[in-house]
Amino acid sequence: MLGNFSYCNPTKLYFGKDALNGLKEELPKYGKNVLLVYGGGSIKNNGIYDKVMAVLSECGKTVYEDAGVMPNPTVDKLKEGVQRARDCNADFILAVGGGSVCDYSKAVSISVNCKEDPWEKYYIRFEDVDPDCKIIPVGCVLTMVGTGSEMNGGSVITNHKQKLKIGHVFGENVFPKFSILNPEFTYTLPKYQMVAGFYDIMSHILEQYFSGEDDNTSDYLSEGLLRSLIHSSEIAVKNPTDYEARSNIMWTATWALNTLIAKGKTTDWEVHMLGQAVGAVTDATHGMTLAAVSMAYYKFIMPYGLKKFVRYAVNVWGVNPVGKTDETVAEEGLAAMEAWMRRIGLVMNLTDLGVNEGNFEDVVKATLVMEGGYKVLTQDDIRAILKASL
Ligand code: NZQ
Ligand code: ZN
Repeated sequence: MLGNFSYCNPTKLYFGKDALNGLKEELPKYGKNVLLVYGGGSIKNNGIYDKVMAVLSECGKTVYEDAGVMPNPTVDKLKEGVQRARDCNADFILAVGGGSVCDYSKAVSISVNCKEDPWEKYYIRFEDVDPDCKIIPVGCVLTMVGTGSEMNGGSVITNHKQKLKIGHVFGENVFPKFSILNPEFTYTLPKYQMVAGFYDIMSHILEQYFSGEDDNTSDYLSEGLLRSLIHSSEIAVKNPTDYEARSNIMWTATWALNTLIAKGKTTDWEVHMLGQAVGAVTDATHGMTLAAVSMAYYKFIMPYGLKKFVRYAVNVWGVNPVGKTDETVAEEGLAAMEAWMRRIGLVMNLTDLGVNEGNFEDVVKATLVMEGGYKVLTQDDIRAILKASL
């Protein structure tokens, strides 16, 4: 276990088939004007909008809407949302949707009273919210599983003009005040989105797992979460309405990225930097961008973190190490992971996501370099990994 840390997660969770009852308990704590934020309309088709509106009305709220939050929310949409929140004098923001809606709502919440350009301040200069900037409280009703946005301070915004997709992980003051997690609300997700979310969870855990050489409790927790995810994902792709599988996955997703398993670790996040660069240029689905670059990345860094890759192969994928070299065991682990990725139906190359000769160098340029993993990448390394992912 390394370093000193503090741990606090202020988000209250309501989990299960009756989770929406939690909204009735939470809403009275906030003011009358509620800005209801949602995406492209899935919540109207699956009935979640009506259920949420009924609770808002029961609680006597005045509801204003900010709809049309797109996957990979943009800086232009953020400006629109900030204006909307100012116009209606929002006391509270209720995000009903997936990670994009939750991330966007957090961005609006810290931008309404921000005196500067929020993109420049929060996403380019990576500054925190000023102490005198009032943050509008946010609550989430989650409809898509994967990002962990329901219980963290992460907010990812895309700027198409600048070809940048940047995530800022804010502090506890930006975490949602509460999140409603009803696994049944995710049943209507198209399979493509469902499995992209599964891989997002996998990637979040691996980004934190593949760092450090120490004996760290966080790594044991990660291995348990990974095994649960792999097990339940196989069931969920065959039967998307298997409550046990979908509920386990929902819970795993939350714990995969709510700061717990990063404790005492440096953490990597390079797969996300590669994936976000792909997203900035192609607007592809987040989880798929991660899937498409992961195999090339992990094969590339394996020699630099060999011991951990051996441990991963044995403890997560059940590879029998007897009589094999470390390299062979590690490779068998990655092969098992690749087979699982193909089985659940992930996109395994960048060409299918729209990367081509014309925009390849834009992706290279947009990839930020992290320093917490087993190898700090050079521009040539990035180019080689992306080439191998085409
Ligand atoms: O917009 P609607 O119509 O709601 O449709 C959405 C969207 O098209 C649909 N969907 C969501 N719930 C549904 C549903 N369709 C049917 N039934 C339901 N119950 O799914 C599509 C994708 O939704 P989106 O919110 O974009 O997906 P996700 O949850 O994967 O969020 C992706 C965003 O989160 C960021 C990503 O970069 C990306 O911008 N991330 C946020 C993180 C964080 N806050 O910590 C970390 C992650 O690594 C990630 O970067
Ligand atoms: Zn992610």
